[in-house]
Order: sequence, then C-alpha cells, then structure tokens
Amino acid sequence: MNNFLAGIMGRSYIGKNARSLDKAKRLFASIEADGNKAAALVNELMIFSRDISIDEHHCDARDIVTTAVKTARLAIPENIEISLRIDGDEFPVFANAGQIEQVILNMIYNARDALAETPAPHIDIRLRKTRQALCTGRRSPDCAACDGEKLLLTISDNGHGIPADIQGRIFEPFYTTKQPGTGTGLGLSTAFQTVQRHHGSIFVESGPGQGTRFGICLPLSDGAAIVPDEERSTQIQPGQQETILLIDDDPSLLCVSTEVLQELNYRVTGTGNGREALEIFRRRQHEIALVMTDIVMPGMNGDAAVREMKKIRPDLPVIFTSGYSDIEIDTGVSTRFVRKPFHAAELSRLLREVLRQEGASPPASQPAGGRQRNPVRPPSD
Ligand SMILES: Nc1ncnc2c1ncn2[C@@H]1O[C@H](COP(=O)(O)OP(=O)(O)OP(=O)(O)O)[C@@H](O)[C@H]1O
Ligand SMILES: [Mg+2]
Repeated sequence: MNNFLAGIMGRSYIGKNARSLDKAKRLFASIEADGNKAAALVNELMIFSRDISIDEHHCDARDIVTTAVKTARLAIPENIEISLRIDGDEFPVFANAGQIEQVILNMIYNARDALAETPAPHIDIRLRKTRQALCTGRRSPDCAACDGEKLLLTISDNGHGIPADIQGRIFEPFYTTKQPGTGTGLGLSTAFQTVQRHHGSIFVESGPGQGTRFGICLPLSDGAAIVPDEERSTQIQPGQQETILLIDDDPSLLCVSTEVLQELNYRVTGTGNGREALEIFRRRQHEIALVMTDIVMPGMNGDAAVREMKKIRPDLPVIFTSGYSDIEIDTGVSTRFVRKPFHAAELSRLLREVLRQEGASPPASQPAGGRQRNPVRPPSD
C-alpha cells in the first residue's frame, strides 16, 4: 500500500511542476492506475476481513477471464507464453466481476513468479463447462457448484511446482514463500474467501518440478440480463444540472467529490457536517434533487441528518457513501449506498438510476409519505 501511496505522492509532486500538458496527462494516468491498485488492495484486505459485501450482478465469466488475461499480459514478461482457451459461448454467473478478476490475476501472477527459472515458460488458462464432480479441493460449506453443470476455470503453469508438505498451507492468510517485500501471502487466502462467497470451490494439483494447476468451480446462473463488463465500467451517464447536496466531513474528499459531480454535469452544494446540511436543506429543499452523504461523521452523522430531511420530504433521493461497508443505516426508507473510493462512471450510473426511480420531483408536488420501495440495504455479509 505504501508503494502505491509513494507512487501517487511522487507523481503528484512532479505533476505540479510539469511543463507540458502531455507530461501532466501521463502522470495523471499513472496516478489513477496507482489509485486503482491501492483500492484493489484495500478491497482484498476488506474481503479478507469480511468487511465487504459481495455486490453481485449478472455477468459473463468469459468477459471476466478475457479482461483479466489482457490486464495480466501487461505485467507478465514477454518470454512467458500465455494461452487462453475458452470452450463455449456463454458462461453466465451471478458474481462480482472485479473480485473474480482479482482471483484470476493473483493466480496468473503466482504462476509468473513460479516460472522465473523455467525454460520455455507458459501459463495456460482454460474456461469450460463441466458436469464432473471436482470438489476435492477447498470448497464452500454451501458449495453450489458440486452438482450439475458448472463453470471450470483452470490456470496451469510449468513452473517449479508446490511440494506436498506446503500445499496444505498455501491458502492460509499471510503464508508466503516469497522474499520479504515481494509477497504478502494474502493472494490465495483472499481468492479462497472470494470463491467461497460465490458458492464455489478451488482445487490445486502440483508437485515439485511438475508445474501447478489451480482450478476454480463456480455455479452457473440463469444468465438473466447480462451487461457486458467493459460497458458497465466505463459508461458515463451525465446529469441534467440537478442540484446535489453533498455532505462529507473530510475537506479533501468533499472538494474532489464536488469536482467529480460537477464534471458529471450536476450543481453541487457541499458541506462538512450533518447539522449544517440540515439547515441548507431546510432553506433550499425545493431546489435539491438528491442528497449524497457520508455516514460516519462527528456531531450529527449522515444517517441522522437524512432521517430529519426525510421528515420534511419523505421521498428525497439519497445516496450514502462510506469507506466502511457493514454500516447499518436506519432511515426506515429506501436508501442507496456507494463505497468509497468510487469510480466516476459507477457513480454516474447510480445517480441516474436513483434520480430516475425517485422521480427527483420538487417536494411540493409530492404527496406526504411518498412511494415505498424495497429497501436497498448497504452492503453487509
Ligand atoms: N503457481 C504456483 N506455483 C508455485 N507456488 C505457488 C503457486 N501459486 C502459489 N504458490 C505458493 O503459494 C504461496 C501463497 O500464495 P499467495 O498468492 O497466497 O501469496 P503470495 O503470492 O506469496 O503473495 P501475494 O499476497 O503477493 O499474492 C506462494 O508464496 C507460493 O509459495
Ligand atoms: Mg500471490
């Protein structure tokens, strides 16, 4: 994590003095990349500490695997041959694509590390469907991939292999045979947690000098409403100049989020505490289309402030944000939650969705009580 922060801080410093726009753009791109990597690492730690919800959607494992292999190719030395074979057209899964991608990436990076001394090194990734019972490895207590047809993803390498006596330890948190500073030993334990949460199983076949094959089984879904992953991650849905009341006690985040929202074509009124937010809302309730608020704040927290605002306008659209994910929100009405750090594209879609669903109508035209929808709980176990 410190390495990513060092990268971000160093490049920001150089960026401040950059003389050309091109150089500044390059620096910003690498700051963004380091930020994404740091977010992925925090994500791993949160999965590991069970502080993160699974946040699943219908997707195609074919896209997840293809994206992971493309990403990995950039970080794998060219002398290592990577082959990807996909047998089948569609692999519908109900999954968190980002988390599954991390699992695959970690396994490919493990394979790369095991290939350092191997002549003609190669990594073979294969995705197929199978009816075979493969749950010989570590499986979820509620494994749903055992019976019937399931997805099987294998990642094989011809590296140094894993001796039998340590095979039982590799899924332990912080177990690593790598040099200090090169491995955290969290990769496979996080992978196991992720697969377990997706009701699947993981197995490993290996021996010294025989290479290694990891297998992941996941249950297939009915494939409803698959949204291509790439589309999901980059598509921006701009606002229509609606006014957002933004509440965050961290001045730097308040500033960045304001700029992101403005960039997404919203008007923003920002404040750092719940009580002041409530005052602003009382004065400008007819103008405010949506409230986006941090949850944990000193004084009046976001949850309490929203409850007061909802007394004035019960169908007020609200998005809660937090760095934590298992926070209970008790507004008694429908709420949406986005975990920090958020991607602008992801946020833009959530904003449109919430505004569309809630109607974003001026309060005067709404009957008291508003519409009741199914509560959307913040992510939790
Ligand atoms: N493909 C592989 N070939 C040989 N050994 C492997 C392979 N994959 C994993 N291992 C062994 O399992 C250990 C644990 O792997 P894990 O991914 O959990 O942690 P790590 O790779 O050491 O560190 P990181 O947290 O950076 O992933 C590795 O240190 C290595 O000894
Ligand atoms: Mg690893």
